[in-house]
Amino acid sequence: MTTAEPIGRALAVVDAGAVERNCRTLKGRIGDRAELCAVVKANGYGHGAAACAAAALRGGATRLAVAAAEEAAELRLHFPDVPLLVMGALTEGELRTALAARADVAVWREGFRELCSRVAADQGRMAKVHVKLDSGMGRLGERDPDALMELARACHDDQRLEVAGIWTHFATADEPEDEFLSEQLAVFRPVAEAVRDIAPGCTVHAANSAATLRDPEAHFDMVRCGIAIYGLDPFHRDPAEHGLEPALQLHSYVADVKRFPSGASAGYGRTWRAPEDTWVGVLPIGYGDGVRRGLSNNAEVLVGGRRHPLVGTVSMDNITIDLGPETDMAPGAPAVLIGSQGSERILTEEVAARLATINYEVTCGISQRVRREYRE
Ligand SMILES: Cc1ncc(COP(=O)(O)O)c(C=O)c1O
Repeated sequence: MTTAEPIGRALAVVDAGAVERNCRTLKGRIGDRAELCAVVKANGYGHGAAACAAAALRGGATRLAVAAAEEAAELRLHFPDVPLLVMGALTEGELRTALAARADVAVWREGFRELCSRVAADQGRMAKVHVKLDSGMGRLGERDPDALMELARACHDDQRLEVAGIWTHFATADEPEDEFLSEQLAVFRPVAEAVRDIAPGCTVHAANSAATLRDPEAHFDMVRCGIAIYGLDPFHRDPAEHGLEPALQLHSYVADVKRFPSGASAGYGRTWRAPEDTWVGVLPIGYGDGVRRGLSNNAEVLVGGRRHPLVGTVSMDNITIDLGPETDMAPGAPAVLIGSQGSERILTEEVAARLATINYEVTCGISQRVRREYRE
């Protein structure tokens, strides 16, 4: 089988329509009372931040969240009026960038509150702050509820600041049997209510994708969904179980097909040798594109609608696959590393399991060298 025009060495095809539909599905789960904030940090988990943000907004998201100030500044160019939240820790310079982009920021220390106030005054604006409780994640946020309340009052009393949110983040929402989510909720709820007494208009938010799908008690005024909007399963199984459609496919093509006599080896270190006479396809995609080296002799690739084992060591720019002793595959045949071809499909979750990691890391790892093409 040949194709006239190979798609190119490495291409991520992103179905923006799937992102839109996934957001609609999530909106259906949370109802009208809670807002959907689409988390598009890390270039939209590797899918492309601006295109996915636009799709998410079409699908019912009303806000966007990122980790870094620069990400907010970039999004602001595309979305002049959409509320943005920077969730991460910020240096003074980064805070200046975030506030100049009119993004809301996270606050959990008095020193940073003072800095926000000062930078807001310098820039002649109000800063919208979301006070963050560490209810058990053990990462960013104030652990002590009393200290957080004091901070919330100080923010409220500050002419330059508006308490726009009270929030937290869950550590184990993706482990359905675990009860720590309920414990975190029990810590967060009274603090959220007390902050709301001080700042009645503020947004209470806690849930990531897993908590959104798992527990309506975690929805509050807004949910912050990342992984699910891209159609990936927060529980590391099959996204279809939650009505989610994977948005990203990773394509390459067979650049060469060669006959391997029994015993001939493929790639660095000769980690694979043909067990019998066979045909080997060479695909011009490798770890420089985000196909991790841990997939050496440990993955399958779709060509001609069938699975073929990735054999040998993944190199920076190439991989090799065993097409079998008889093949009608010829140079130019399209190959799919993530996605479907014919009736076969390879989920990001499958690739993640082979690497003993999570789907997040697989799509975030697709490198800049891989062209993104958007389809509806
Ligand atoms: C603070 C915070 N909220 C929400 C999210 C979105 O989580 P998920 O992608 O699991 O929906 C993240 C992502 O890591 C996060 O760090």
